[in-house]
Amino acid sequence: MSNSSNKKVLVSGIKPTGRLHFGNYFGAMKQNIELGNSGEYESYVFIADYHALTTVKNGDELRKQTIEAVASYLACGLDTTKVILFKQSDVREVTELTWIFNNLVTVPYMMRAHAFKDQEARSKDVNVGLFDYPVLMASDILIYDADIVPVGADQKQHIEYARDIAGYYNRAYNIEEFKLPKELIMAGVENVPGIDGQKMSKSYNNHIELFCSDDELKKRVMSIVTDSATPEDKKNPDENNIYKIHKLFLNKEADEVLRSKFSNGGYSYKEAKEELLATIMKWREGKLEKYNHLVDNFSELNSLLEKNGGVACEKAKIKMEKIRKTVGLTNTF
Ligand code: TYM
Repeated sequence: MSNSSNKKVLVSGIKPTGRLHFGNYFGAMKQNIELGNSGEYESYVFIADYHALTTVKNGDELRKQTIEAVASYLACGLDTTKVILFKQSDVREVTELTWIFNNLVTVPYMMRAHAFKDQEARSKDVNVGLFDYPVLMASDILIYDADIVPVGADQKQHIEYARDIAGYYNRAYNIEEFKLPKELIMAGVENVPGIDGQKMSKSYNNHIELFCSDDELKKRVMSIVTDSATPEDKKNPDENNIYKIHKLFLNKEADEVLRSKFSNGGYSYKEAKEELLATIMKWREGKLEKYNHLVDNFSELNSLLEKNGGVACEKAKIKMEKIRKTVGLTNTF
């Protein structure tokens, strides 16, 4: 594991609030794996279990989903000799930093967060954890001195909050402590659509899980919502949900072939869905077996998490010591 300090730092997290889906994969995981595995970055990828507490209220469920998220990353090819894959809560320093940051942000500023506004529109019973979610996320990012944060478009505002909070701290204490991190949102996958055409999300139940059963996969793909065009009709691929999902898996050449099938006509939705299903089945070859094996042998994953949590913690502790001194929580002047 190289921790060379002249490498740029990559930080990214994923919430274990259910099984991971293709929105997570194409929006963030794939970038984390490719950039992390390249060895060009000092990479910290974590399972955001503290964040999951805002909605998950069952310890066993959280433990299981955390393991499933780790297994998903490994099955998809994350190289743990190049990327520090760990559990957010193994670095308790992030909660201490959150408390320090809480005293630099105002309530009106926090009330502008989209996630909070959406939740508040649905129910007034928003918990304080959800309200404070962006501050914990800023701590996750800033404690490791992140340069880039690969995410989907729905997280853009959170990275803006992290930048703002870094600036608030630096100005309040008149010190250049925190770098200003940048989001990395890949064009074409910033908002992966679900089977109903809205953004793919567990909360809309329109997602396709990476590692569900073959039957469930088939059910999901065959229920992709389409219009009433007949098989003979020419179809605009850019307005077609089956195409929009299918193209994510294809290289340029295969994409062109698929586009012309849609636009030439004579390509039924049934056939289009069956071909998408075959593509996803092919994508899962080898990965699904690996995922199931890892989940069944989760004690190995726990050892990995423990070891890597220690590595991430070491870095976070050094940062926190400086911060504790700056804000006046240590005895030494
Ligand atoms: P989460 O768990 O909701 O999603 C994980 C990642 O998947 C991306 N994503 C999508 N991208 C494109 N299209 C979609 N339909 C789609 N659905 C999900 C998300 O944008 C995200 O990148 N708050 C974060 C977790 C987190 C974090 C962090 C991320 C905690 N601390 C620090 C980066 C840095 C979240 O809930 O992601």
